Amino acid sequence: MAEELIIKKGTREEQYLELIPQIAALVAGEPDLIANLANISAALKQQFGWLWIGFYLVKGDDLVLAPFQGPIACTRIRKGRGVCGTAWEQMKTIIVPDVNAFPGHISCSSLSKSEIVIPIIWNGEVIGVLDIDDSNYSAFDKTDELFLTEILGLLRS
Ligand code: SME
Repeated sequence: MAEELIIKKGTREEQYLELIPQIAALVAGEPDLIANLANISAALKQQFGWLWIGFYLVKGDDLVLAPFQGPIACTRIRKGRGVCGTAWEQMKTIIVPDVNAFPGHISCSSLSKSEIVIPIIWNGEVIGVLDIDDSNYSAFDKTDELFLTEILGLLRS
């Protein structure tokens, strides 16, 4: 495992292309989900510096806070609630350019302006979500969806 992440400047795509092999190396051979989620959230925070990057894991009818980087956050989110609970229920990625315009958005930090939530789907079931918030509006787009989904795929390889 590399001791230090190599941080790349450039387009968003170039940054992901440099980061993804490093994340693949970090999680390769490590079966512990929590350990891998912890390193993925840290690597994304180091590379992109977004406000909040983290995971919620499904426990019964709730999403429960898991490894993250950033300010303290809500610990439990009900299925169907907020952006995270909606992404879980609908089993699809949700990109929110302006959190104020998303009905039912759960505000964990007043600094958060935009958000992306990607469900982690294993064997047809959502086991958790990756949630990223930023303090700028419209911080996320389809490029993020594509590469972040690829990163989540590394958890099972
Ligand atoms: N905004 C999320 C809640 C989680 S925090 O952003 C970390 C939501 O609406 O589900």
